[in-house]
Amino acid sequence: MSLSPDSLRELFFAQSIDGFFIMMLDEPIEWNDAADKDAILDHVFQHQRMTIANEAYARQYRVALPELIGKTPAEFFTHDLESGKAGWRAMFDAGHIHTETDERRMDGTPVRIEGHYLCVYDDRGRITGHLGIQRDITDRHRAAEETAQSREELRALAARLESIREEERTRIARELHDELGQSLTGLKLDLAWMERRLNRHSQSELVDRCANLLGRMDDVMISVRRIVTELRPSVLDQLGLADAIEWQSHDFAGRTGLALDLDIDCDCNAMPDAVTSAVFRMLQEALNNVAKHANATRVAVALRVESGYLSLDVTDDGRGITQSEMRGSHSLGLLGLRERAIALGGSVTIASGERGGTSVALQLPLRPKAP
Ligand SMILES: Nc1ncnc2c1ncn2[C@@H]1O[C@H](COP(=O)(O)OP(=O)(O)O)[C@@H](O)[C@H]1O
Ligand SMILES: [Mg+2]
Repeated sequence: MSLSPDSLRELFFAQSIDGFFIMMLDEPIEWNDAADKDAILDHVFQHQRMTIANEAYARQYRVALPELIGKTPAEFFTHDLESGKAGWRAMFDAGHIHTETDERRMDGTPVRIEGHYLCVYDDRGRITGHLGIQRDITDRHRAAEETAQSREELRALAARLESIREEERTRIARELHDELGQSLTGLKLDLAWMERRLNRHSQSELVDRCANLLGRMDDVMISVRRIVTELRPSVLDQLGLADAIEWQSHDFAGRTGLALDLDIDCDCNAMPDAVTSAVFRMLQEALNNVAKHANATRVAVALRVESGYLSLDVTDDGRGITQSEMRGSHSLGLLGLRERAIALGGSVTIASGERGGTSVALQLPLRPKAP
């Protein structure tokens, strides 16, 4: 038995897993710039009615199909007439619309609908109603919202961890500096006193021992100062970001013998502490990598502030970096760079140049979102 085209159309309409409907107006409306659109929409919301719909459509509203027939837009959008009307207005203006809407099922529960809607016109160009094809995307939408939310939470967590780490470092640096530094200075003074005394009594063996101890004390003090500076780069506090970066780059070039191109164009005063210390740490990591891995002869450091963004680029002319090195699970240094950037709402791009060389580019918004 073969079905007629009409019955096939009927079958298609009835069986589709997408919701189909047509809502017609009691009388056609003139929709143009001369029209009083607010008044027309008020009228439409009371006088347009669900004319035909399929089972899939009824399922989206958790109601038996016959109960939907005759319903008006006002009844579908009792929970939010404002946005209902805004949707209708956009559809009437453009003649069609593809949109996602927050609606209510007939049992009152929220449903997220994605649909295409198309105006129906009479031969005089007046709107007589519209038809729609729509899907229930509540689950997908919720999953996407949850993902976005957890990403946001991760970002906040990363920022929080970063600031805790930095506070902790500052605290340890201060204690090392104040407590250990003071004690060492005291010990050194006492030793020097002892050395003078022993000298007077011509105890040359003990004097030598004292001199040796004093020398070792100096080494310890230098180590403490180095550790303190690494924990909390005092140059940052003393010099501000731009000068600290200049200092660090020159210091690095001096130690490694690499040629340095420096390009600093930044009025970096009054930048949040979280930004300056993150940028400084990232510079240190990028430079360390150049020394450790790149086998380079030059390094270029550029710091700029442009249209609300701070950018720091560290580029070398070394052997380059491979994709797997960039993503390797033990690339903790590079991962740390990314995490710091994300924590401040920014990003890091790592790339290998065409003729070798590696560049690390950091971008940070200057008004980072509060953690
Ligand atoms: N400037 C660079 N030039 C060449 N290779 C690099 C450079 N920076 C990083 N790499 C490569 O990427 C890897 C990951 O870097 P990183 O995460 O900082 O780890 P680590 O420095 O502890 O090895 C390095 O081991 C190295 O192989
Ligand atoms: Mg590293």
